[in-house]
Amino acid sequence: ICMVLDYGSQYTQLIARRVRENNVCSLLLPGDATLERIKKERPQAIILSGGPNSVHTANAPQLPPGFYEYVQQEKIPVLGVCYGMQLLVHSLGGKVETVEADGEYGRTSIRTTQASELYQEETDHAQSVWMSHGDKVAELPEGFHPVATSEKGTIVAIENKQKLLYGLQYHPEVQHSERGIATLKRFLFGIAKMPADWNIENVLKEEMDKISATVGPEDHVICALSGGVDSAVAALLVHKVLKERLHCVFVDNGLLRYKEGERVMDTFKNHLHLPVTKIDDSKRMLARLKGLKDPEAKRKAIGAGFIEVFNDFAKGFERKPRFLVQGTLYPDVIESMPPPGKDQKHSHMIKSHHNVGGLPKDLQFTLIEPLRELFKDEVRALGRLPELNVPETFITRHPFPGPGLAVRVLGDVTEGEALDVLRQVDEIYINTIRDFGLYDKIWQAFAVFLPVRSVGVQGDQRTHSSVVALRAVTSSDGMTADWYPFEPKFLQTVSSRICNGVRSVNRVVYDITSKPPGTIEWE
Ligand code: XMP
Repeated sequence: ICMVLDYGSQYTQLIARRVRENNVCSLLLPGDATLERIKKERPQAIILSGGPNSVHTANAPQLPPGFYEYVQQEKIPVLGVCYGMQLLVHSLGGKVETVEADGEYGRTSIRTTQASELYQEETDHAQSVWMSHGDKVAELPEGFHPVATSEKGTIVAIENKQKLLYGLQYHPEVQHSERGIATLKRFLFGIAKMPADWNIENVLKEEMDKISATVGPEDHVICALSGGVDSAVAALLVHKVLKERLHCVFVDNGLLRYKEGERVMDTFKNHLHLPVTKIDDSKRMLARLKGLKDPEAKRKAIGAGFIEVFNDFAKGFERKPRFLVQGTLYPDVIESMPPPGKDQKHSHMIKSHHNVGGLPKDLQFTLIEPLRELFKDEVRALGRLPELNVPETFITRHPFPGPGLAVRVLGDVTEGEALDVLRQVDEIYINTIRDFGLYDKIWQAFAVFLPVRSVGVQGDQRTHSSVVALRAVTSSDGMTADWYPFEPKFLQTVSSRICNGVRSVNRVVYDITSKPPGTIEWE
């Protein structure tokens, strides 16, 4: 594996993904991982990521004691990127200084200055790269050579061939770095001589083998399907091994989109051939939500309702199932360095993931999480394999929150016809997005039912009816997001389709808030 030590750069996950795109398995560890932890994974190459710190700030992340002795002894090549390169220089006795005027940010032109391992024959070769730094290397440690400089004369690439230590001041992992991927490949294959043997077919085989080895021949396994791609792919993979010993449940909590229950059950049964029990809990759930206005109270009620249904389902077996399948993804389990501004001493952030609405600990299942080392796009690739054969429309579905439409009807969900109106509006909105060929360009799109009325005129009549807000965002992981810039023609079409198609709506507004400061959902 190629290990990536994370010093908090927004691009760290991208490095890990780029490595995998080149068929090398990557593993992300927090930048302050101990040497024991690093050794345990037996890395064949190590990349030190970028990060927001300067090596001179107090508590700036360091390499663990004994790191250099270990990599030298094991002949493990190390590539420092941005902060990672400054860390190499600083910790080996070179000099890093803060750039007095501006640092270099964004697209920058660099030139290789001499023959090198990193660039091979590309001497005196110019390329445009993505730079983002406020510190620069002023003096190299012993044994290092500068092998590329920027137009301003800053050293942007260094190497110590003997000790297999390399550094890049820019980000080779981002698309704007012209030959960045070529340089990463050179590091992985030319220098670290790693085999290109990681691919999604092998992941499928390995995960299936793990399940055969873990689950006994008499054991039964349960899985809650949400209607999303992650739980479906996880279930399919397990189903391939266990067949009828896997039992899936899909809960209709009354907060689903237009015809969602029928549609996903059709996909589960007729396309994925998964054994699924559908449980209709909508009446009970809506009763639970009655009168609740506070978003957190609503979420809690929904989570508790789900657990109750799931518990009953689990208890309904003669022999209690010992295992539970979850579609947890790698970004949910990665321990990351805290973002800038957060106390560095605090323990690593492990994103709380709301898979299956937070099942209680006393359910006492052993978890089967076949996707826990995969990124979302890798899960999609897995689902597309002929062995799993998940339909493309299902693979590319937008994410949908566990609490469903309840977080999109602001305030009391059970008052009046809000849920029904929202279902109709949402359906028109999504269909229009599909008609305009925009569905796959958008991370998530949905409508929100607002608890206000506005005055309008429909036909010759004055109306006092509902207002809906439309939201569409682009994002790579849901952690940050930008609103989607629809063309006026689209907005015009969707607005008139909604007002004409749904009688009780007389006003449509478009949400132009990014995340932060907004969140994607309204509640
Ligand atoms: P926010 O609104 O926090 O949403 O910006 C980020 C992403 O997470 C989804 N989301 C949830 N998913 N249970 C879930 O399973 C939840 O309680 C929940 N809240 C938000 C949201 O749809 C978006 O994709």
